[in-house]
Amino acid sequence: MSPLVWSEQIATHVTVIDYEHKQLVALLNQVEALQGKQSTQDAKVEVVQALVEYANKHFLVEEELMLAHGYPGYEKHRIEHDDFRSKVTQLENDLVENNMDIMQFISNYLGRWIVNHIQKVDKHLATFLLQKSPQGHL
Ligand SMILES: [Fe+2]
Repeated sequence: MSPLVWSEQIATHVTVIDYEHKQLVALLNQVEALQGKQSTQDAKVEVVQALVEYANKHFLVEEELMLAHGYPGYEKHRIEHDDFRSKVTQLENDLVENNMDIMQFISNYLGRWIVNHIQKVDKHLATFLLQKSPQGHL
């Protein structure tokens, strides 16, 4: 997968969500950049863990927004986040404990997941939130 570039296609227009998605894209590109290199396992683990940690924090921010504004799709959206959480826990385990060479798989999988999730699930949430605050400052 080539580096993921921020574009209108993944913009939600909710300020905090877009800001955090941009950080996620940057972290994802760091994972991507390491896959072809002779970097140490520690460097790989570090960047994957940074991405996972950021994603988890970001999910909580979205979930708090959903609860605070009474979003009717909360349960479904949270289940998607939960699926991601359990999948990345497994991937992290393969990378850290089993020392598997899965950087390419991780960057492809997470890249696809994030873009797909933003386009299908986060944009739906954003449409709801923008009705509450058309400027997107929530
Ligand atoms: Fe989300």
